[in-house]
Amino acid sequence: MTTTWWSHALFYQVYPRSFRDSDGDGVGDLDGVTTKLDYLKALGVDAIWLNPVMVSPMADNGYDVADPRDVDPLFGGIEALDRLTDAAHRLGMKVTMDLVPNHTSSQHPWFQAALAASPGSDQRERYIFRDGSGPGGIHPPNNWVSIFGGPAWTRVVEADGNPGQWYLHLFDAEQPDLNWENPEVFDDLEKTLRFWLERGIDGFRIDVAHGMAKPPGLPDMEVIRAEVLLADMDDDPRFNNEGVHEIHRRIRSVFNDYPDAVAIGEVWVYDNEQFSRYVRDDELHLGFNFRLLRAKFDAVDIRGAIENSMTAAAMADAVPTWTLANHDVDREPTRYGGGPVGQARARAMALVMLALPGAVFIYNGEELGLPNVELPDEALRDPVWERSGHTRRGRDACRVPVPWEGDTPPFGFSDNTDTWLPLPREWAELTVEKQLDDPDSTLAFYRRAIELRHSRPEFSGAVIEWLESPADGLTFRVSGGAVCALNAGARSMVLPEGEVLLASGELVESMSKDVAGVPLGIMVENSVMPAMGNAVGMHLPPAVTDVYHSGLVLPLLVSGLFIAVLGALLPAGWAAKTRTAAALRSE
Ligand code: GLC
Repeated sequence: MTTTWWSHALFYQVYPRSFRDSDGDGVGDLDGVTTKLDYLKALGVDAIWLNPVMVSPMADNGYDVADPRDVDPLFGGIEALDRLTDAAHRLGMKVTMDLVPNHTSSQHPWFQAALAASPGSDQRERYIFRDGSGPGGIHPPNNWVSIFGGPAWTRVVEADGNPGQWYLHLFDAEQPDLNWENPEVFDDLEKTLRFWLERGIDGFRIDVAHGMAKPPGLPDMEVIRAEVLLADMDDDPRFNNEGVHEIHRRIRSVFNDYPDAVAIGEVWVYDNEQFSRYVRDDELHLGFNFRLLRAKFDAVDIRGAIENSMTAAAMADAVPTWTLANHDVDREPTRYGGGPVGQARARAMALVMLALPGAVFIYNGEELGLPNVELPDEALRDPVWERSGHTRRGRDACRVPVPWEGDTPPFGFSDNTDTWLPLPREWAELTVEKQLDDPDSTLAFYRRAIELRHSRPEFSGAVIEWLESPADGLTFRVSGGAVCALNAGARSMVLPEGEVLLASGELVESMSKDVAGVPLGIMVENSVMPAMGNAVGMHLPPAVTDVYHSGLVLPLLVSGLFIAVLGALLPAGWAAKTRTAAALRSE
């Protein structure tokens, strides 16, 4: 496995509409991102991933690209991207962009030309046009459904004014799928790749990287959970077809001319062997692995997700990737139960993720512990809402803009109070400004965890070793060094011995050495763990070995325990504590 800047990088996903608005139109933009680069640097970000900023009518917030080689004026145009890239590079951060090869916008000149041309023409050959089935072609060519809801086919009106062929769109009708069997399609993508890489972009996140190739004859699908956005699609004819690997090999051959650039695929494929094929050494450098994101807050599930992710990457000698959130899924505090419980669980999971070897991706606002926002119907913007006939609310709840400062919405995100999605009043407590002032904030916690990840050598390693752990707990050692312990259960857990480097919540001291399995409220007195220090200082917390030796337990909250601890273990001490843990398990 070759090691490069991205092998252990911390990527930060910027959803440009929602990060920072510099021109007062209520929508975030690239100059807005540039104004916040110092914040990202202080957080410990190695590379930014920008969701699509290319020219787009924004039917799917930029995933409908009308000109792949220019930046939309909404985001400030191409000069704003140059400014951002230059400034990020000066600070030592890389900038990666989103690339959308599966489809274009319906406003793309190619698709407009295809609509104006006749069936069988070269223009139509760039997309997937077919005659309909049934008398007069009134039914779609097959039964595929769109990921966003409704049929995956839309019928066009031909030049003579009559209903004519159908075109395929796995997503919105404004996102026609390209025909990857047409060599012009790759040639154009190559132009796009070289255009941005020459301009100084450090790589791409490749959208729907398990899409693109379609199966011969476009056979019907079994319509089970077909509309669940990016669900398990291993056996779905719409995705993960054999031909996609040849496309990735061709894309990789372009990247090989830019050896420092990284290609990261969005690969919603769950079979380990199938997944590993995307990250072979002549395909993608990295594949997004969504297992951790999909795992329930359950020790067995989480361990399975980690093991499978490591296995799949190892099968191709590739670097594993980790992510808990993105612009398509519910935010973690909400997913893990909401309220203080969800927050505590999200922090614990962040520590687990940040202790794992490989590349980590965090999504803007994750470091603030932002939950989903309950938006009124009239505020919804995601095409999923309309296409599903108002049965699915879509992904807006996780896309609400970042709160920066002040006491009232939009909390410094924009000068305009009419933001593209409204920020809730309650976020006054979650602003960056507030959290920077609070050493116990989620932001302070993320900064410390990331700093540890960067500063300790074991986190540049590639292995983890599972250590014995109580039921409902997970304990692993990272590349022979630090140990991460997670308690995902409803009972207290004795920590392994060693210096606590960081805990995701307050630790408490046991009054008894023999607390196995006993609810905390009865057995322990209150916290003895010193506060974790201000994030700006970024130094290791004082060692708390004494406290640790006296038998720390992880605290019990009403409906479950949710804390992760990162500690540096003394191997000798560990043996003794393993017995304690084993005893816990057997009770
Ligand atoms: C990817 C993106 C998602 C988008 C879809 C269609 O899954 O992450 O946001 O809607 O592709 O491009």
